[in-house]
Amino acid sequence: IASGLLVLTLDPKWIAEIPDHPVSLGDLYVVSYPKSGTTWTQQIVSLIQRGGEKDTHITADIPWLELKGKDFVLALSSPRTLKSHLPYHMMPGRDPANSIAKYIYIARNPKDVAVSYYYHAKRFTHFDFTGDWNCFFEFFMKGEVPFGLWFDHVLEWWKYKDAENILFLMYEDLKKDLSGSVKTIAQFMGYQSLDDAMIEKITRQCTFDSMKDNPLATYDSLPEAPEVTVSNSTPFIRKGVIGDWKNHFSDEQSARFDAEYTKRMSGSGLVFEFE
Ligand code: A3P
Repeated sequence: IASGLLVLTLDPKWIAEIPDHPVSLGDLYVVSYPKSGTTWTQQIVSLIQRGGEKDTHITADIPWLELKGKDFVLALSSPRTLKSHLPYHMMPGRDPANSIAKYIYIARNPKDVAVSYYYHAKRFTHFDFTGDWNCFFEFFMKGEVPFGLWFDHVLEWWKYKDAENILFLMYEDLKKDLSGSVKTIAQFMGYQSLDDAMIEKITRQCTFDSMKDNPLATYDSLPEAPEVTVSNSTPFIRKGVIGDWKNHFSDEQSARFDAEYTKRMSGSGLVFEFE
């Protein structure tokens, strides 16, 4: 998962142990390839769990499995809700579709993911990335970024989308119908009886504008932010649109990407909206 030149340092011993990590009934994992709407989904899930009101930060509500490490994770009592960017076969329970936990996977069209990842890499000091978009594009195409090749990650999870304990979501669907998506997520989580007023209350706190200004929903407000963030970089909750890739991909890059996309995705039945 730490491949190529853009490296995220995680404890390799812990990562290797994660598939054997115990899974309990009621555990919930929010999973994604980076930059696909993870934080957005975390905000929705934690508000559902807390009845639409919370005064804690998303990173505390739903900690990051790989980053937090073994001692932290084992000390959490079940049911636990954790975030992860791991591929399907590296998740706790090894084979999520046959485990007793629940998994929400959020995917986003890869051209927008690439652009969002570019700003992310420029933003965080540990990436030590000072290249331009053209440089990042090549890393992304080769999967030489933390969590590897987008195609591998998304297609492996997609194979298991019909399992009852896996909910496969798309960023673009959340954009088109946020309150409908909140309802779908709540039902999947077992909160069938949330009324419309509660769905609306949660939805209001999950729009781009409300999250951008909410110190409990963005990484910019964390005490360590000044230390880990390159000065003058873009905010974490940056633009939040479908199609920003058009402002970054050259015609040649777009054609190259599309050819690879067609080759990799054909026959998968997985279709993204790019604009
Ligand atoms: P952009 O960089 O394209 O703006 P992740 O949480 O997986 O790292 O994903 C971050 C991306 O999700 C960023 O994309 C961020 O702006 C976007 N995002 C976060 N909250 C959002 C919201 N409420 N609505 C739309 N996009 C959101």
